[in-house]
Amino acid sequence: MNAQAPIRPEAPAPVGLLAELTHRCPLRCPYCSNPLELDRRSGELDTATWQRVLTEAAGLGVLHVHLSGGEPTARNDIVEITKTCADLGLYSNLITSGVGGALDKLQALYDAGLDHVQLSVQGVDAQNAEKIGGLKNAQPQKMVFAQKVVELGLPLTLNSVIHRGNIHEVAGFIDLAVTLGAKRLEVAHTQYYGWAYVNRAALMPNKAQVDESIRIVEAARERLKGQLVIDLVVPDYYAKYPKACAGGWGRKLMNVTPQGKVLPCHAAETIPGLEFWHVTDHSLGEIWRDSPAFTAYRGTDWMQEPCRSCDRREKDWGGCRCQALALAGDAAATDPACSLSPLHAKVRALAVEEAAETPPDYVYRTIGSNIRSPLKEGAPS
Ligand code: SF4
Ligand code: FES
Repeated sequence: MNAQAPIRPEAPAPVGLLAELTHRCPLRCPYCSNPLELDRRSGELDTATWQRVLTEAAGLGVLHVHLSGGEPTARNDIVEITKTCADLGLYSNLITSGVGGALDKLQALYDAGLDHVQLSVQGVDAQNAEKIGGLKNAQPQKMVFAQKVVELGLPLTLNSVIHRGNIHEVAGFIDLAVTLGAKRLEVAHTQYYGWAYVNRAALMPNKAQVDESIRIVEAARERLKGQLVIDLVVPDYYAKYPKACAGGWGRKLMNVTPQGKVLPCHAAETIPGLEFWHVTDHSLGEIWRDSPAFTAYRGTDWMQEPCRSCDRREKDWGGCRCQALALAGDAAATDPACSLSPLHAKVRALAVEEAAETPPDYVYRTIGSNIRSPLKEGAPS
């Protein structure tokens, strides 16, 4: 293993590491980006291995570490891991639900050098939020947690994943962020892979709702300039061009799963045939540079038309590979979210149709469920 191996020019140094410390979580959100087959506690990496991974990440040039899950504070060693980030000069961002043991550990995390907190909020109205998150009494705990974060002087970001069950609350999310003293609010329309793909019909808003949510955000950005930054992630199915998913495959981010597999994006395991290397067998440097999963869709050589000759190919890198697999049945296809994809009209029609129907009940995220990934089954008929 050689953590300091030079990076070839086609593989720029990664800037971020998403450390999925555990898949355990008290919430059961139906849009969770974790895989359908969640890792169990017994298979999680130990503290020393995470510390080695973080040391290798710092050596590679990583700047930000997102301590995520599941609920990262469910790990007994979360304070130790956070301290390791601080000792290595890595900017640490705790991505948390704010429930379970999060509040009890917050002071120790602050003392250990935590830099930033990103708190998920499922809704503004408590009853609605708790229905979406699948946990009673979660909302008051989240509010107390947010207050404590701000009292400590830690920068707070609220993350709201938007879908038809809460899209009417976008203005409320903005007010809540201001009231709580958050510095940033993410209004992130649902990305449809993992559990969100299973729940797509229950989550898909209609175009008029989406347009209204964008209008509300744009007006608030003007009004709250200098007070609150609002990030808006627009929904792919109604977009003109796709996003550069994960900043482009193998260009910016590494995602380490609870068991130590290293992925180019959080949903990459849905793509059949990709070979993922493990932190116990290879250094992060080797994985970033040479592992088959990272090299598969890095750059533009793998692209088909229309991406291959498109002048946006180094802006959005062809969109999302996982979504291309889910909707086109081919991970190397143009993301059907793109208006230049031959499948775009069909995908848009699917969204319109689902949004017009009565939403089915949520399929809540659970460990040990036997739900099969529809992403592996290829394109819709
Ligand atoms: Fe992006 Fe490909 Fe669409 Fe061009 S054709 S905008 S590169 S997804
Ligand atoms: Fe895998 Fe977009 S989620 S490339």
